[in-house]
Amino acid sequence: MNQAPLQLDTELLLQWYDTRRRILPWREDPTPYHVWISEIMLQQTRVDAVVPYYERFLAALPDVKALADAEEEVCLKLWEGLGYYSRIRNMHKAARQIMDEYGGQIPGTSKELQNLAGIGRYTSEAIASIAFGEVIPSVDGNLLRVFARRTEYEENIKSPQALRDAEVFYSQRISLDRPGDYNQAVMDLGATICLPNGEPLCEQCPWNCLCQAHSSGTELSYPVVPPKKARTVSQHTAILLRFDNLVLLEHRPEDGLLAGLPGFPMLDGHPTEKELKATLSSAATGLQILMRKSYRHIFSHREWEVQVLEILCSSQNEFEVAAAALFPGIQTITADISEIRTRYSIPTAFRPCIQYLQT
Ligand code: ADE
Repeated sequence: MNQAPLQLDTELLLQWYDTRRRILPWREDPTPYHVWISEIMLQQTRVDAVVPYYERFLAALPDVKALADAEEEVCLKLWEGLGYYSRIRNMHKAARQIMDEYGGQIPGTSKELQNLAGIGRYTSEAIASIAFGEVIPSVDGNLLRVFARRTEYEENIKSPQALRDAEVFYSQRISLDRPGDYNQAVMDLGATICLPNGEPLCEQCPWNCLCQAHSSGTELSYPVVPPKKARTVSQHTAILLRFDNLVLLEHRPEDGLLAGLPGFPMLDGHPTEKELKATLSSAATGLQILMRKSYRHIFSHREWEVQVLEILCSSQNEFEVAAAALFPGIQTITADISEIRTRYSIPTAFRPCIQYLQT
């Protein structure tokens, strides 16, 4: 293959990156630990949302050893608001693996990085190229979109074949001297110029003279995506069971949605006050039931329609009897309301409930 046009590709891109790149904290001092933390946070989360979390996390846990030694509750608290908590659980596990199996040094190749908990192919390639200079493309959604437009790629961009084709495309072009900058430059191009929704800003793109979709005016026809599957919608009732300063929480099961996290216990469906009283039967005598504002929470593939009921008990015994009647078999936590915001990492899916818990 003639290398000249491929070299032009790289040069145009890196020149653009040197003047237009986004200034991001992990790029200022790209140690393996910094790059690792940033790449995990950036999975499913926007760059501008990540920055404050990244800074706070590093201030609290500045290196692998600090992360390995930290209590899980502390890690979860630092992650609160970022969601997808399995990411921090795995990172914590991986930090311990690095201490035990790699003498405290983060391994330096994409292959070895994939032995660590929570590091898949893309993330290993991003860390290896950015922090260790491995010449390997890290193909994320941005790189796929840019590739699809550059080549007028006709296949489903979400298919395994598209990933392989994009890897070949970028492997032929990636800078041998600056592979991490090359990958991050295409990420920036995708995030700021070759935009996912709506019109890309082609006049500002360093690759506009090389882009097939731009030359044919078909930018908006790429990438080719399959029709979206509808989200599954389900109905739930979150119960704020209270006595005095106490409120009932659930330690959610270790698998499934929001696994292992504290949340408000929920009933399936939207039972009426009368139905609820029937379930509570003799426990219900002194209770007061308050219907609170319902809300909806959207996950990536699911949606919850949540009715919120606050149940005020008049004694601790009533609180315990009601908890057992409503939620037999779940793992419960009796929490002090004053600690709800400080001690527990309640996921965003339950956030609208917290406003009712004033001390
Ligand atoms: N998304 C994932 N990794 C990134 C990085 N290093 N820079 C910008 N966006 C990213």
